[in-house]
Amino acid sequence: MDPIGELLAYEKAALAAIAAASDAATLETVRIEFLGRKHGRLRDLQALLGQVEPSQRPVVGKQFNEAKSKVEGAFEARKQELARPKSVASGIDTTLPGTPITLGRKHPLTQTIDDLKEIMGRFGFSVADGPELEDEWHNFEALNIPEDHPARDPLDNFYVTTAAVGAPDSANAKEEGGRPILLRSQTSTVQIRVMEGQKPPVRVVCLGRVYRPDTIDATHSCMFHQMEGLMVGSGVNMAQLKTVIRMLFSAYLEHDVSIRFRPSFFPFTEPSVEVDIPWEGDWMEIGGAGMVDPHVLKAVGYDPEENTGFAFGLGIERLCMKRHGITDIRRFYENDLRFLRQF
Ligand code: FA5
Repeated sequence: MDPIGELLAYEKAALAAIAAASDAATLETVRIEFLGRKHGRLRDLQALLGQVEPSQRPVVGKQFNEAKSKVEGAFEARKQELARPKSVASGIDTTLPGTPITLGRKHPLTQTIDDLKEIMGRFGFSVADGPELEDEWHNFEALNIPEDHPARDPLDNFYVTTAAVGAPDSANAKEEGGRPILLRSQTSTVQIRVMEGQKPPVRVVCLGRVYRPDTIDATHSCMFHQMEGLMVGSGVNMAQLKTVIRMLFSAYLEHDVSIRFRPSFFPFTEPSVEVDIPWEGDWMEIGGAGMVDPHVLKAVGYDPEENTGFAFGLGIERLCMKRHGITDIRRFYENDLRFLRQF
């Protein structure tokens, strides 16, 4: 009797039969034959163990246990393999894990724009839009900014020479009958467009890009976003302007915030103020505002005796910086995912 040889032969035959089983039913037959408790071959081998000489028992016992666990392991592995869905005919293995989907998110400035629209919507302001390429009437003249005003200096604006209607050179466009075109330097242009197309009362905001050849630093960019607000009607006053701005800031920043109104000048508002909020132990200018100048109301055909209005223009980047503690405006435009993923 060679118990070790028989155990090895058993193991070899069992592993081969398990590997050859091509479906669950065949595998079950193999299990009964090799591992079955009642009549299986393992049971016969166990009976054989009883006849082994006592001195040989530890070695044979060890071999028996090894053979048993190898066959049981192979059986379980094959069972799982057969339970998995078959690969489709095209060769695609549908059991492989899929490619993980990475969820994107909105840019912090887009999130801010959405938030501001939503808050202003609650105050009854609807959203208006206007072109980024503007003519001088909407960017300057209708806003009471005369031809000799320093704000109209071509060096302080992005004139689009090729877009000047009827003239190749914007500087000579007027003489040659053309209409100079520039990238709008403020969203106040939309005030004019709205009032030209609508009778009072008016309650609108416009949020969009504006362009200025400013020197870039931590709080200035040459392209940035503004939110313009305009409310015109009977009895509209400065106290309402202050309330709306304060409530807007508190709602967006999610806490009550002090604001500072500083006397200022804009050709299209009278009186005019700059609006500041606390920033790093000092104040940061967030926007300009004021009561719409009667000349502007007249220019769009409104009766300044019957209507008054307030307007404001706020820097969206700076509001977003205040909310998230961002200390450099340039972060918004670098498209560094490590920065963007934080919002
Ligand atoms: C204006 O643009 C006026 N149109 C605002 C206004 C509207 C006044 C309606 C009265 C009535 P100002 O040039 O100050 O104003 O710009 C407004 C805000 O835009 C600034 O307070 C600041 O928050 C933001 N801003 C201005 N220049 C830049 C810049 N280069 N980069 C980033 N933000 C800027």
